[in-house]
Amino acid sequence: MEDVTPHDADLLLASHAPAETERIGRRLAAGLSPGLIVLLRGEIGAGKTVLTRGIARGLGVAGRVASPTYTFVAEYPEAVPPLFHMDLYRLLDAGESVAELGFDDYLERGGVVVVEWPAAAAARLPLDRLEVRLEHAGELERSLSFRAFGDAAKAALLDLRGLPEPTA
Ligand SMILES: Nc1ncnc2c1ncn2[C@@H]1O[C@H](COP(=O)(O)OP(=O)(O)OP(=O)(O)O)[C@@H](O)[C@H]1O
Ligand SMILES: [Mg+2]
Repeated sequence: MEDVTPHDADLLLASHAPAETERIGRRLAAGLSPGLIVLLRGEIGAGKTVLTRGIARGLGVAGRVASPTYTFVAEYPEAVPPLFHMDLYRLLDAGESVAELGFDDYLERGGVVVVEWPAAAAARLPLDRLEVRLEHAGELERSLSFRAFGDAAKAALLDLRGLPEPTA
């Protein structure tokens, strides 16, 4: 991955393979503190779930990590801190609301909350949050731009920027 950060992002990383995006997620996980929410934006197939899988691995999840497209939230209590992975793409079409989902409660549970397609939760998003936009830049290329709002999110990015390249 190379750092090619423009002025409108706090950090911009280029990925050249799914495994590299997953590795970025694993590295990001090391800096995520309990209660932090991470919003993943980007079109279908941009790599939001791949990145989340990396975050999950980094937090100690060994099993399957897939988008909770129909259940909207997947809980990983074995992660440290616990991981709550949401995919709100179908939420409004399914006639559900973030209130019914217990969205605010998840934020209070001391875990890391990762949200794909967060638009449905726009009115309830905390000011402190980490925003990631993933974009296609080729068949195997993706750009990941990060914006940190608040100290916890900024700390997470410092870790991601500062760590040396993994050797394995
Ligand atoms: N550099 C890359 N990083 C991530 N995924 C990549 C990359 N190159 C190719 N891919 C492929 O792109 C797809 C990304 O799928 P993924 O499920 O993560 O997308 P998503 O953003 O979660 O989509 P959705 O909105 O449908 O949930 C996978 O098939 C993956 O193999
Ligand atoms: Mg997904």
